[in-house]
Amino acid sequence: MKHYLAAATLALGVMAGQQAAAQACAANVEDPFDLDEAAITEIYACISDRMAEAYAKEGDEVAAAYRNWTVTATRPAVQGAHGSRLLLTFANDIAAEQYLKFAEEGVTMPAGSVLAKESITISTKKKEAAVGPLFIMTKGEAGSAPDTGDWVYSAVQPNGKPMKFKQSFCHDCHVAWEAQDMMAYPVEEVRLSN
Ligand code: HEC
Repeated sequence: MKHYLAAATLALGVMAGQQAAAQACAANVEDPFDLDEAAITEIYACISDRMAEAYAKEGDEVAAAYRNWTVTATRPAVQGAHGSRLLLTFANDIAAEQYLKFAEEGVTMPAGSVLAKESITISTKKKEAAVGPLFIMTKGEAGSAPDTGDWVYSAVQPNGKPMKFKQSFCHDCHVAWEAQDMMAYPVEEVRLSN
């Protein structure tokens, strides 16, 4: 009996492995920037569920919640700065109204704003799309983080665990959009305004 169970467990494991392999999302392209809208939509349809599951694996609060927030673009898009990944940003209720104005001057995001940005890594070698980190920005009360404009930068790895980095790693780039309260916004062609 024990033997049978072990064999069954092993078989299930093998099946799960095969299924995962069969489910790899194809991305048949030399350069992520060459993906057209239809190709991106197809990749997202394939990867979207497993992506949300991956981020939420270890109970991260933002990972569990962000899919119920406001999506800020019509589809993921490549911008370049986040490692040539496909990116799609979600804004929580506190952030959404101001964020979706995509304003360029004098922006102050309200305290409690959270932006969560999904990322999809395109392997041009394997011709596959894989889940990349979930990048997060959380706005604190005025004066709570003077070095970073009161923003806290964080990220969740595809295994659900927090990613480690210095705040300056993210902020030194985001500070380029200081007049927009550090928000860089999605590329214009995919923006959804309110
Ligand atoms: C080299 C520049 C650069 C670095 C470094 C960088 N970002 Fe970004 N970030 C951008 C750009 C550009 C965008 C907008 C791109 C898009 O969404 O299409 C963006 C967008 C975001 C957004 C969506 C909100 C917004 O700005 O519109 C979040 C959240 C975010 N980044 C988090 C992070 C975190 C966390 C780190 C550090 C681990 C980080 N970023 C590092 C350039 C950078």
